[in-house]
Amino acid sequence: MDIYQQYAYSYPHKLAYREFDKPLSLKEVWQTENQTKLFAYLHIPYCEMRCGFCNLFTIANPKQGLDSYLAALRREATTYRAALPNIQFEEYAIGGGTPTYLNVDQLANMLSIFKNVLGVDTNEKYGSIETSPKSINADKIKLIEAYGINRISIGIQSWIEAETKQLGRPQTPSLAAMAIRQLVDSAIPEVNIDLIYGINGQTTESWQYSLESTVAYQPTEIFLYPLYTRPLTGLAKINSQPTNENRPSLYRQGREYLLANGYEQVSMRCFRSLTAPTVPSNYDATLHGMIGIGAGARSYTTKVHYSGPYAVSRKAIKSIIQHYSEQEDFSSINYGIHLNEEEKIRRFLIKSLIDGGRLNTHTFREMFNQSIFELEVIQDFFDQGFLEKESNFIQLSRTGLEMEDWIGPALFSSQVNDRMNTFQLL
Ligand SMILES: C[S@@+](CC[C@H](N)C(=O)[O-])C[C@H]1O[C@@H](n2cnc3c(N)ncnc32)[C@H](O)[C@@H]1O
Ligand code: SF4
Repeated sequence: MDIYQQYAYSYPHKLAYREFDKPLSLKEVWQTENQTKLFAYLHIPYCEMRCGFCNLFTIANPKQGLDSYLAALRREATTYRAALPNIQFEEYAIGGGTPTYLNVDQLANMLSIFKNVLGVDTNEKYGSIETSPKSINADKIKLIEAYGINRISIGIQSWIEAETKQLGRPQTPSLAAMAIRQLVDSAIPEVNIDLIYGINGQTTESWQYSLESTVAYQPTEIFLYPLYTRPLTGLAKINSQPTNENRPSLYRQGREYLLANGYEQVSMRCFRSLTAPTVPSNYDATLHGMIGIGAGARSYTTKVHYSGPYAVSRKAIKSIIQHYSEQEDFSSINYGIHLNEEEKIRRFLIKSLIDGGRLNTHTFREMFNQSIFELEVIQDFFDQGFLEKESNFIQLSRTGLEMEDWIGPALFSSQVNDRMNTFQLL
């Protein structure tokens, strides 16, 4: 059984989105929704390079267009504020791409749009921003501190240069070390470091070296990602595909090492320091909506999920960004997916069990008027030892955590699978 199906951190997957028959107005879509405790997301689709493994909505080294992108972001945020004057945000994330690819003035502009136009109180609410070794510097850190952003996440992937080269992300360990030193010495309370396992040529020893080099900085969080080779990425285009057979053993090695060195396991990927602060947020993805701004950002209501179009190739992403940057009217949406009752249940299961959640059986009964134990798939997961129950909560067991990338996709409906399989990926 191939346990590496995919990282199911959201549902339905964006490959299941399509153009709507007719556009819906923002106001209409949100009218009947709870507009408090929302999650705000801002997307910057730029990076200094396109890593070989990455299929995120981003382009490397754009020669121009950043200022017009930010102007469109301002128009989109203004539209939300005007259409939905009562929205309140509980948590936020600024991602990409690499938001710190922007220069200091652009970053200040972006943060001001997020806080003063969209209305996300970054200083009061819990939030996160992504960065990369090459794009971070002292001035940008100062800005991030001033906006009170709680967590900064940096992709290191490996401390071995030959391995980052293999990943199509050439990066010297000394550059990575310099960037992390600045982050851990800053006033930003939480630093997360991403590592990847299953790289061609990676061994038990080299993985151990990357784990130890990471723990040496005592970051509040470490994410261990199994390597996936995704369609149309740089890695998918080269001949020597990673065989990846060692992913399960490298996962266990990483897990044991981090558990023995002051970290607890939150999900298959996430390990959090025992001394990390508790996350002070009341946002619950099974109950509360999300508003995403920027090209490629997704938004979630109870009935509709929507975004701009998605692509992977540079040419297609560039044209989507250009279209976004020229857009004047953001008051309607025309791309996404409607969720029927079955999809709502599936989403509840995925958002509760995958990525560190706990499923509240009482909430499930209240929302869907049935017992979770009536679902065959849940009984089946219990029988296979993937789940454990404690009072009215269900969560992944130790075996379940290891199987997270199989369990999530096993909960997808055939309708969503069909849509994903027939998506025309450009
Ligand atoms: C949003 S991205 C990274 C943020 C930032 N742009 C950077 O690269 O430093 C989050 C993380 O997902 C992981 N990731 C992305 N694509 C992956 C893939 N195909 N296989 C394994 N991990 C992947 C990487 O560890 C990456 O750092
Ligand atoms: S991994 Fe990060 S830096 Fe690399 S292309 Fe993806 S978003 Fe950009």
